[in-house]
Amino acid sequence: MLDLQNKHIVLGLTGGIACYKAAELCRGLIKQGASVQVVMTESATQFITAVTMQALSNRAVYVSQWDAREPNNMAHINLSREADAILVAPASADFMAKLLHGRADDLLSLMCLARPLGEVPLILAPAMNREMWINPATQRNVAQLTQDGALVLDVGQGDQACGETGDGRMLEPDEIVQDLIAAFQTKLLAGCKVLVTAGPTYEAIDPVRGITNLSSGKMGFAIARAAHEAGAEVTVIAGPVHLPTPRGVNRVDVRSAQDMHGAVMSRVKEASVFVATAAVADWRVAHVAEQKIKKTAKGEAPDLQFTENPDILGEVAKSGRAQSGALFCVGFAAESHDLQKHAQAKREKKGVPLLVGNIGPATFGSDENALLLVDAKGVQEIPQANKLELARKLVAEIAQRMKH
Ligand code: C5P
Repeated sequence: MLDLQNKHIVLGLTGGIACYKAAELCRGLIKQGASVQVVMTESATQFITAVTMQALSNRAVYVSQWDAREPNNMAHINLSREADAILVAPASADFMAKLLHGRADDLLSLMCLARPLGEVPLILAPAMNREMWINPATQRNVAQLTQDGALVLDVGQGDQACGETGDGRMLEPDEIVQDLIAAFQTKLLAGCKVLVTAGPTYEAIDPVRGITNLSSGKMGFAIARAAHEAGAEVTVIAGPVHLPTPRGVNRVDVRSAQDMHGAVMSRVKEASVFVATAAVADWRVAHVAEQKIKKTAKGEAPDLQFTENPDILGEVAKSGRAQSGALFCVGFAAESHDLQKHAQAKREKKGVPLLVGNIGPATFGSDENALLLVDAKGVQEIPQANKLELARKLVAEIAQRMKH
């Protein structure tokens, strides 16, 4: 199932050069399964044509409140009642100022004012010159619109069409799509701070070689994203992986198990949930060679000595906050066989309330997985699905258990 399946989005365009990105945004929404109704202000039509937006959305575009195509001639009512959300991208400084005052002298502002407040969220993606963005009037308007219940997205930073550089660019279309998807998720972890470990660790042998494993980090990153979508403040501590950071998630990159241990210990004190998804190396080389180990004339293999790595989850689970219930700990077990037996044994050994088992070789690197949740009450399967879908279900299970 696509993330915006069965969602009907009214995409509003106001006047600004970022209108050129609205075409891509419209495509992005449709690719995620949404149906899109475009509404443009007169100013927006100076920047991109209604023809382009109609062709991409496969629906006639509305510009005027006097559009006679609607039998009752009340496009502002009809369009806002059909919508699951109104997304204004780009939202110009002028349009936000107008919304703030509840003015309604064109179809788009009229529709925003007429929307059923509790049912149709209003999401604004501002776009303007950096001086316009930092102007106290704009910042005041953003704060007031937020208080009035609109979701005002961030702005991007960088080169602007006017030649200046700074804050105020509209977010990229895929970032807006991600933020919209997040806006539809229930805020099950609102107010929670979630710490996630993800990916493999890399244990150096010498300056050019090391030992690692096949964990891709995808499950941990999906959990970080799902927790953020659920309203949590999320930090992911990632071993060496090549994955983009989910929107809104803080990321700390580490290499070895010891680095990961340090990064977790310094942050876990503030967390309310700790999810240990990382495939942490159990051992590291005791003495890392300062220089590259060379082949010997006799062809002898180097004599590597190993020492055990800290058990990050084990240590966190023993802490006072975890024991008192102030910190909810979740472990992962990647097994190759007898999943239930090993997962149950691992839950006991680690002393965590929830342990998630999965078959390692079947999931490493894949976009899909299947999970087995083990807690004090028993086991529960979450069947094969993509990792983000599984992560959302896992987040719901965590939220449920934190309530008790
Ligand atoms: O490696 P093992 O199967 O014991 O991993 C089980 C759980 O413990 C996982 O959640 C993993 O992230 C965590 N772990 C850890 N530190 C280690 C080893 C494992 O946090 N050194």
